[in-house]
Amino acid sequence: MSLEGRRIVLGVSGGIAAYKAPDLVRRLRDAGASVRVVMTRGAESFVSPMTFQAVSGHPVHDTLWSAEAEAAMGHIDLARWADLVLVAPATANVMARLAHGLADDLLTTLILATESPVCIAPAMNHQMWLHPATQGNLTVLEDRGVAIMGPGAGDQACGETGPGRMLEPQDLADRVQLLLGRAGTLAGVKVLVTAGPTLEDLDPVRFLGNRSSGKMGFAVAEAARRLGAEVTLVAGPVSLDTPAGVERVNVRSAQEMYAAVMQRAADSDIYVGAAAVADFRPKLASEEKIKKGTEDFQTIELVRNPDILAAVAGSENAPFTVGFAAETSDVEQYARGKLDKKKIDMIAANRVGVDHQGFDCGDNALTVLWNEGRQDLALQPKSSLAGALMQLVEERFRTARDE
Ligand code: PMT
Repeated sequence: MSLEGRRIVLGVSGGIAAYKAPDLVRRLRDAGASVRVVMTRGAESFVSPMTFQAVSGHPVHDTLWSAEAEAAMGHIDLARWADLVLVAPATANVMARLAHGLADDLLTTLILATESPVCIAPAMNHQMWLHPATQGNLTVLEDRGVAIMGPGAGDQACGETGPGRMLEPQDLADRVQLLLGRAGTLAGVKVLVTAGPTLEDLDPVRFLGNRSSGKMGFAVAEAARRLGAEVTLVAGPVSLDTPAGVERVNVRSAQEMYAAVMQRAADSDIYVGAAAVADFRPKLASEEKIKKGTEDFQTIELVRNPDILAAVAGSENAPFTVGFAAETSDVEQYARGKLDKKKIDMIAANRVGVDHQGFDCGDNALTVLWNEGRQDLALQPKSSLAGALMQLVEERFRTARDE
């Protein structure tokens, strides 16, 4: 958990998006953070302080003028306690008060008093967001070093559409982890990940492909980023959102993936090949749609694609190289064969061709092998599985580097 031991003050101001803030508290705590909530009066019109007390496990702070609260943990104590102050949602009003340095309630006062990083997640009607006054305040806050998270664009509570939606709680929690996670166990480490299928065109309308959804590779990229790594994700054609803080390079074919990976491999510390790369491609891709003709069958001549994983492992300044193995039987035996043949550092083997794990589903199980060891990672959601895998990779990477 990359926020383990981190202390976050969450300021909640009075916008409709305040209803998402309890979920944000939960996600920050799931990542290991300790969270104290400070509410403005406006926020209390949307969500009860009791809700935040229940999800944070601590009383809510909402006034400067309580002798009891000040004696327990006053605004200066809170300002010093925080490793980070996040205001989510940040209304136009709160942005204006922060830009002008007002100290007219507990939240604005403690933000003036803190030396820790401050970030805001704006949330408001799109006209309010685009108003020159708000945009001017935004510039002031950015110039002052406040990290701005969002807003997103889309349907708004007022029924209109445009920029001004607060980012989703998990996205915000991810960005906080990115901001604070630079001290994670993979801080300063560059990780290159491949994900998804490659598609090999036969003609402008047909291709050879496979069932990879990209979920496993995207989860690996996200897990590496949560550990503080600088992550580049080379993705085949999939319809998944890019994990926050990850640089994405889109490719289509194995040859494109090979080029994108080889361009970056020497500058990477760890390579994880989770993509289902096509071993073969049509020898000739027709520029015109192939006509079906009168024959009952057609022969497609295939040629071998480059083996990206083997090429990375064999390259000069090779990164610590981790492959995947997708097998329908004798999983461990075939995977160990690939580990040896491709001369890679680790391999994560999974069974495919069965229901509810492997390709195109939310769960998976892995047997991870390296020269002198192995570890089974039980069937679980790909997000947590990827976290466990990246911890193992991190351990082996450190060992290899120290040898
Ligand atoms: O994307 P999902 O729907 O979440 O499914 C996840 C997954 C099943 C695709 C993933 O867990 C997985 O197993 N990925 C590797 C699939 C694969 O191509 O396995 P393989 O045994 O054929 O290849 C072995 C390794 O060589 C892989 O790391 C592969 O990326 C790499 N390879 C293969 C061929 C090639 N030309 N170049 C390569 O780099």
